[in-house]
Amino acid sequence: MVEIMQGEIKTKFKDCWCANLTQEHINKRMTVSGWVSTIRDLGGIIFVELRDRSGVIQIVADPGKNPEVHKVFEQLRNEYVITASGVVSQRPEDTFNPNVKTGTIEIYPDNVEILNKAETPPFIIDEEQEINEDLRLKYRYIDIRRPQMINNLVLRHNVVAAIRNYLNKQEFLDIETPVLIKTTPEGARDYLVPSRVSPGKFYALPQSPQIFKQLLMVSGVEKYYQIAKCFRDEDLRADRQPEFTQVDLEMSFVDSEDVIQVTEGIIIEAFKCVGIELELPFPRLTYRQAMEMYGSDRPDTRFDLQLFDVSDIMEKSSFAAFADQVKAGGSVRALSIPGIADYSRKDMDDIRNLAISFGAKGLAWITYASDGSIKSPVLKFLTEQEIGEIQRRAGANPGDVVFFVADKNEVVFDVLGRLRLHFGKKLDMIDESRHNLLWVVDFPMFEHDEEENRLSAVHHPFTSAKPEDLDLLDSDPLKCRASAYDIVYNGTEIGGGSIRIHDPDMQKKVFSILGLSDEEIQAKFGFMVNAFKYGAPPHGGIALGLDRLVALITRAGSIREVMAFPKNSQARCLMTEAPAEVSEEQLRELHLKTTPAKKK
Ligand code: AMO
Ligand code: AMP
Repeated sequence: MVEIMQGEIKTKFKDCWCANLTQEHINKRMTVSGWVSTIRDLGGIIFVELRDRSGVIQIVADPGKNPEVHKVFEQLRNEYVITASGVVSQRPEDTFNPNVKTGTIEIYPDNVEILNKAETPPFIIDEEQEINEDLRLKYRYIDIRRPQMINNLVLRHNVVAAIRNYLNKQEFLDIETPVLIKTTPEGARDYLVPSRVSPGKFYALPQSPQIFKQLLMVSGVEKYYQIAKCFRDEDLRADRQPEFTQVDLEMSFVDSEDVIQVTEGIIIEAFKCVGIELELPFPRLTYRQAMEMYGSDRPDTRFDLQLFDVSDIMEKSSFAAFADQVKAGGSVRALSIPGIADYSRKDMDDIRNLAISFGAKGLAWITYASDGSIKSPVLKFLTEQEIGEIQRRAGANPGDVVFFVADKNEVVFDVLGRLRLHFGKKLDMIDESRHNLLWVVDFPMFEHDEEENRLSAVHHPFTSAKPEDLDLLDSDPLKCRASAYDIVYNGTEIGGGSIRIHDPDMQKKVFSILGLSDEEIQAKFGFMVNAFKYGAPPHGGIALGLDRLVALITRAGSIREVMAFPKNSQARCLMTEAPAEVSEEQLRELHLKTTPAKKK
C-alpha cells in the first residue's frame, strides 16, 4: 500500500484527511470534506462514505437524532462535494469493515453542508470495475479520483522525492534546460514549434536534455540532474508516450563504473518506496552475451530459456537454406522448448507463422517425441548424428521441441528472442515475483541503417568508443564497442547512458563516420564542437524513463496508468482534444499554410 501523508491539514473545511482518522480521534469533534463516494439508505438511517485523496470515512445521519442533518443527507448524490463536522465515534462491532482503514469508526455529523453538486459521473469511481480507457481519458479528472489512480500518482511523487533526496545529498544540482531548442539527435522525429518572429524557422522540442547537460559539464557544473520532460514523435506503445519524463543526470571526471553506481543507488531508493529491498550489485551482461543467450538487448531473465548456436553443425548439413546463411556470415541458432512435443501440425504452423511475422524466412524444428520418435520438416537433411548432437546441445528431453532460425545474425536473434518471450508467457515460465535488474554493457557504437545505407549511432553520436576499441573506429567501425550501458528491469529497458566524447576532434570523427559532412557538422552541432574547444572535462551520464520505472514498480499494465494526463495511442489528448485546428489568423502570424491531409 502506498504511504499517504501523515500530518494534519487544518483549514476551515478540514481538520484532517478522511482516512487519517483513527481510534485516537474518538470523542473528538472533527471536520472533514470531500466527495460523496457511496450512499446507503437503510430505512431512515443514511450511511455515506466520504472520500478524499487519502481514502474514505463513514458519516451517518439518523433522522431521530438530527433531523436537520438528515434532510441534507437526503439530498446527497454521488460525487457531491460536502463538508461535515461531528464527533468521531466507535462503530458497533458487528458493523466493522475490515477492508477500509477507518472501518471501525464513523462520524454522526452535527453539521453538514453541500459545497457543490455533481452530475452523475460517466463511470463509477470504484477500484474493481473495468472501465473503457477512452472514457477514462476523456474524463481523466474524475478517473484520478479512483483509488488506484491517485495511489499511482502518490507513489510517483514518492519515487521522485526519494530520487531527488538521494541526488541532492550527493551534491547533484537540479538545473532546468530549455524546451524550445534546436534538434536533439536521439533518433526519433522531432516535435516542431514554428517561430513567429523568425519566419520559416522552427524550434524543436527536446527529445532529451542531452546536449544541454553536456554543455553544463563544459560549464563546470560537474554533477547535474533534472526530472525532465522529453518529446518524441514516434509510434506509441504501452511503454511509450509522445511526452514523457526522464530522470536525467550527467557527471564530470567519471567513468562508467561511477555512473552505474549512482544509478544503482537511484533504483534502490525507488524500489524502497514500495517496500522492495534490492540486492547489489545488479548482474551485468555484455551486449553480445545478451543477444547470444536471450536474443535481446533487454533480456527478461526471470526464466531460464536460452538460445544456442548450431551454425557449425548446419554449415555442413545438406540443407542449403541453412548452410548458405552460415556461409554468408549469418548463423543458425536454436531454442529448445520443453514439453510441447504433442503440439498438433496446426499448432506448429501457427508458431512458424508467428516467426515469419517476426521477420524470419521460415521456421524449422525437431520434435523429440516422448515415445522416442523424432519428427522434423527438415529430417531428410540431417544425419542421426547431427540430430543427436543438437539434442545434446539443447539438453532436450523426450517431449521437447527444438526450433531453428537461419538468417543474418540480427534477424536470428530478434526472431528467437521474441519466440522465447512468446513461450515464456504462454507456458507460464515467468516468475512474476522476481525483480530482475541487470546492466547490458559494451553496446556496439554503430549499426547499419539499411534504409539510408549508412552507419547510425546505436546510442547517440556523443557516445565514446571503449578506449581499447579506438583503433576500430578507422579499421572496422561496426566492430567498435561503445562505453554505453542500459539498465533493464524484467525485460524492459528503463534507462540508458554512456561516457561521452569530450575531444572536439574525436567528436568530428564520429560525426563523419555517421556520414555528416563538415558543413553539416558545423550547421547542426557547430556550437557543441566549439564548446568542447574551451575545456571539456571527461564526462558521462544516464537517463532513466521515470514513467516506465514507476509503471513497473506499481505493476501497472501501461505507463498511462502512472501519468496524470497521458495521450492515447494516436498521440491525442481525449480530454482537451489536442492536437486541434488553429485559426487562419494564427497560421498567418506563424507564416504557415496547411495542406489537406492525405487520405490513408
Ligand atoms: P534514451 O533515448 O535511451 O537515452 O532514453 C532513456 C530512457 O527514457 C525512456 N524513454 C521513454 N519513456 C517513455 N516514452 C518514450 N517515448 C520514451 N523514450 C525513451 C526509456 C529510456 O531507457 N539522452 C540519453 C540518455 C543519456 O545518454 O544520458 C537518452 O535519452 O526508459
Ligand atoms: P523448405 O525446404 O523451404 O520447405 O523448408 C523446410 C523447412 O525449413 C520449413 O519448415 C521452413 O519453414 C524451414 N525454413 C526455411 N528457411 C528457413 C530459415 N531461414 N530459418 C529457419 N527455418 C527455415
